[in-house]
Amino acid sequence: MYSAIDRKELKLVNSVVREFCQKHYEFRAFKQYLKDNHIDLTNKVILDVGCGSGYSSRLIMEEFQPKELFAFDVLPEEIELAKQRGMPANLFVGDVTNILLPSEKFDVVFAFDVLHHVPEWRVALKEINRVLKCGGVLLVHEPRKKALDNLERFLKVHHPMESRFEWPELFKELVESGFHVVERRNLYLGHFQSCLCIKDE
Ligand SMILES: C[S@@+](CC[C@H](N)C(=O)[O-])C[C@H]1O[C@@H](n2cnc3c(N)ncnc32)[C@H](O)[C@@H]1O
Repeated sequence: MYSAIDRKELKLVNSVVREFCQKHYEFRAFKQYLKDNHIDLTNKVILDVGCGSGYSSRLIMEEFQPKELFAFDVLPEEIELAKQRGMPANLFVGDVTNILLPSEKFDVVFAFDVLHHVPEWRVALKEINRVLKCGGVLLVHEPRKKALDNLERFLKVHHPMESRFEWPELFKELVESGFHVVERRNLYLGHFQSCLCIKDE
């Protein structure tokens, strides 16, 4: 049966080790893409999909001082943890394959390690595209299929087969969902990939 996230992985995701890596490596890569492309996210309307316990949302809040920040996760207990951070953000339980928000509401969407948990990740990309304004920014960070296969094999951490993808598949789907991939990079010795995309005009 599909569950949003393996409990062992959830512990790791909410650990200080993960927070350290996310702040000093993954988020730093995003900031570098934005700088390279002269994109300033300050004072924008931002959405953090699959925000988990809200650490990524906190980084976004501190770094960009958004005009408005929305963040959601499919797990109510993660949203409860996010609320305990006391951020001035709109936090709610929601599903990235059916985002209950108006079209073209956001300047920016962050999708930090979410798509590989969602069997219908292609639908999720189309939903993200729908809620972004034309010319809006999407930042994605995801592990590649090989890394997820190894996690299952050696640590028994499960992810849906349908959402284990290699970079060419993700790239193809981003383009088919209406994005232009501006910059991408391999992280963690190529086990993860991250990219900056722009919604086509
Ligand atoms: C690896 S965690 C990442 C959390 C956070 N973005 C971060 O980087 O720390 C993946 C998150 O995606 C959430 N998730 C899984 N399926 C989802 C869905 N269909 N819609 C929204 N969130 C989902 C999980 O509950 C989990 O909190």
